Amino acid sequence: MFTSLRSRLWSTYVLIVIMVLAVCSVGLIYALRQSPLLYRQVINQIDVSSELLVRRLNPLVDRSRERFIQAFQTESRDIDTNVALFDRNGQFLATNIAGSEIALQLIAQQVDFEMQDGADVSLFAGGERNKDWFYTVRSLGDNYYVLTAMIKPVFQFSTIVKDEFMSPLLQAGAIVLIFAFFISLIISNWIALPLKHITQSAEALSEGDLVEIPLEGPKEVQQLASTFNLMSKKITAGAQSQREFVANVSHELKTPLTSIQGYAQAILDGTVESKPAIDKAANVILIETNRLHRLVMDLLTLARLEAGTANIQHSEVHIQALLANMVDKFSIQAEKQAIQLHIDRIPDVVIMGDGDRFAQVFSNLIDNALKFTPEKGQVRISAEIANQDIMIKVADTGLGIPEVDREKIFDRFYQSETSRKYGKKKGFGLGLSIAREIIQSHHGKIWVEDNAGRGSVFVVKLPIHRNKS
Ligand SMILES: Nc1ncnc2c1ncn2[C@@H]1O[C@H](COP(=O)(O)OP(=O)(O)OP(=O)(O)O)[C@@H](O)[C@H]1O
Ligand SMILES: [Mg+2]
Repeated sequence: MFTSLRSRLWSTYVLIVIMVLAVCSVGLIYALRQSPLLYRQVINQIDVSSELLVRRLNPLVDRSRERFIQAFQTESRDIDTNVALFDRNGQFLATNIAGSEIALQLIAQQVDFEMQDGADVSLFAGGERNKDWFYTVRSLGDNYYVLTAMIKPVFQFSTIVKDEFMSPLLQAGAIVLIFAFFISLIISNWIALPLKHITQSAEALSEGDLVEIPLEGPKEVQQLASTFNLMSKKITAGAQSQREFVANVSHELKTPLTSIQGYAQAILDGTVESKPAIDKAANVILIETNRLHRLVMDLLTLARLEAGTANIQHSEVHIQALLANMVDKFSIQAEKQAIQLHIDRIPDVVIMGDGDRFAQVFSNLIDNALKFTPEKGQVRISAEIANQDIMIKVADTGLGIPEVDREKIFDRFYQSETSRKYGKKKGFGLGLSIAREIIQSHHGKIWVEDNAGRGSVFVVKLPIHRNKS
């Protein structure tokens, strides 16, 4: 029954309201029982009676003792408070209500009449039969005291509750509970509605749909919604990239496999007979298998780098020597393509990492630069130190990369439209994704810039381990 947020909230409110009302009423009753307000009537009555009697008897104090006692009895008869006459020594002389002598004498024994003379009404605790009394003492002439007293009334707790509190308490409780019901309704909707949206979005996500959750409700729920949105986007992007990956791999595998199959079939069924034709077919098969081999190796490298399982060496790498080697490796290819491959003076710094992996990165960058630069173009390698990093640049005067493509070219299999059409040598579009993974695993960065309007500049930033220059 009490499983929904709303009913739980409401029952909590009911409990709190009942507790608050109970504590308040107990406190109020206690305060009231202590308060003189409840006994004001009694106190007033004692005051008035005592005043009245003193006024009546004062003119008669000079009479003889017996006659004065008689006068006291006459004058006090109509007073309905207990009054008693005592002499200076505390000797009881008379009272107006028969039977109250003992009780009044008990008070007289314990109260110092001289001290209390004319004082306000006081409380005498523990009188006859354990009752409490309110009393006041007045002197009459030099010889007498009048004690005026009344039993302190006892108010029953239950009577106070029933008479004074019950109905306002019940009314207040009912009103507050109605309020609590609406507030719990509002608050539970405020919390539960966004949670419902999150559940709906999760259900949609499991069906493969991305439903953005609006940020509403309490801060914590909003944080949950925004984290959920982020997670959904990542899951959707992951699923999308997985689909694209499979499609791309299949696409890349299809062409070489078809041509291998075709040539192998031709040799087998005798369509290709002559030695030169067979050689040509075998050559095509070899080229395509090499291509396939490279594709598989690249995919494997990428998968290992992404999973963090690639075996990356950590040794000192001399950047100057590494880049010089790269230029040597590509100089013949550059010469063939009539491209000027130039290397600036490189600072002699050492970085920590895997030399072979760095070679793979710069091979791909120089290979790309040569691939996408027309004859008579220029490829220039330079490096500069910026704070604790070295920035290595591979600049070319080639096709350039449109602004929209500058991030995408680092995605797996991405090849820009312009380069596809231009393509001298067909690649897979994996080189830069591998390069980025390698550089990032060495705490570096790689990006591409425009080469002053002609061609592009690839920049690799890596932390310097030691500067020897
Ligand atoms: N220097 C460059 N000039 C112009 N476009 C470039 C340059 N370098 C890279 N690109 C673009 O980025 C794409 C991705 O490059 P990447 O090195 O990842 O792949 P690829 O060279 O096509 O193939 P692979 O390196 O796998 O053999 C290229 O296909 C090309 O469109
Ligand atoms: Mg490449």
